[in-house]
Amino acid sequence: MLVSTLSEMQQWSDEVRRSGKTIGVIPTMGYLHDGHRSLIETAARECDLVVTTVFVNPLQFGAGEDFARYPRDLERDIQLAHRAGTHVVFAPSGDDMYPVGYATTVDVGPIGEKFEGAFRPGHFRGVATVVAKLFHLTKPHVAYFGQKDYQQTLVIARLIADLNFDIRLRVLPTVREPDGLAMSSRNVYLQPDDRRKASIIYRTLRAAEQSILDGQRSRQRINAVMYETLASAGDIRIDYAAAARAETLDEPEEFFSGDSVVLLVAVRIGSTRLIDNLLVRVP
Ligand code: PAJ
Repeated sequence: MLVSTLSEMQQWSDEVRRSGKTIGVIPTMGYLHDGHRSLIETAARECDLVVTTVFVNPLQFGAGEDFARYPRDLERDIQLAHRAGTHVVFAPSGDDMYPVGYATTVDVGPIGEKFEGAFRPGHFRGVATVVAKLFHLTKPHVAYFGQKDYQQTLVIARLIADLNFDIRLRVLPTVREPDGLAMSSRNVYLQPDDRRKASIIYRTLRAAEQSILDGQRSRQRINAVMYETLASAGDIRIDYAAAARAETLDEPEEFFSGDSVVLLVAVRIGSTRLIDNLLVRVP
């Protein structure tokens, strides 16, 4: 079923909740791929009813970013979403989500200011705002997000805790292409040559992981492994390649045994900006 209006969405969720059934929601910007599919399939196993939202959220794009050219194909998304176990595709309009006079935003503080937030000012305010709205509209018991957007999962965890959303957050592993490239709606922008180059991102993460497993504890040396590996692929602009504490994104001089480290990479290849990450437990 396709739902486009906000009131119809809320009514549907109210009725489902009254009947005692559980709702799982997968917020997306559409152009669905196997990463989204795995979130939907897991939700279908774990919840009675599944809502997949499709909304390219203008509030999380900066000036000069790819909002206008972000890929869109609602018909295909509806099919893929339903085949994966979705009951409702919620695809609201921009005018309904942000009518004239719209003013309220959600600011999640420091966790949204580093890394992606530093390179995309206001991005996580846009994400937190739309996700808070989508939560109020779809009223889920469980919300599904991908580890692919690692910092986003920390932002959503903060949002849920701080604004007392009664929602369980499920973060699922990144789905990758055979060469390791994380699936992304933006991969369609990549020219064949850039697509080949892009496999360096995952190899970089694995090289840094290996250095940690081999005993490297110095954050700067781990970062150097990532910069050197990325540089070996030629023309890639590095926004950041950084090891940080997984829980807080703090960047200590050294990591210790038992620490959870997240390796974060953001690069631009041609006109395409790609992000990826890997979690590593320090031995
Ligand atoms: P979008 O990029 O469409 O991603 C929707 C969800 O799918 C996110 O939780 C994202 O982490 C997850 N995802 C994307 N690629 C994945 C992959 N390769 N493997 C596993 N999961 C993957 O993230 C957004 O949209 C937006 O910021 C949104 C949360 C919808 C707010 O507008």
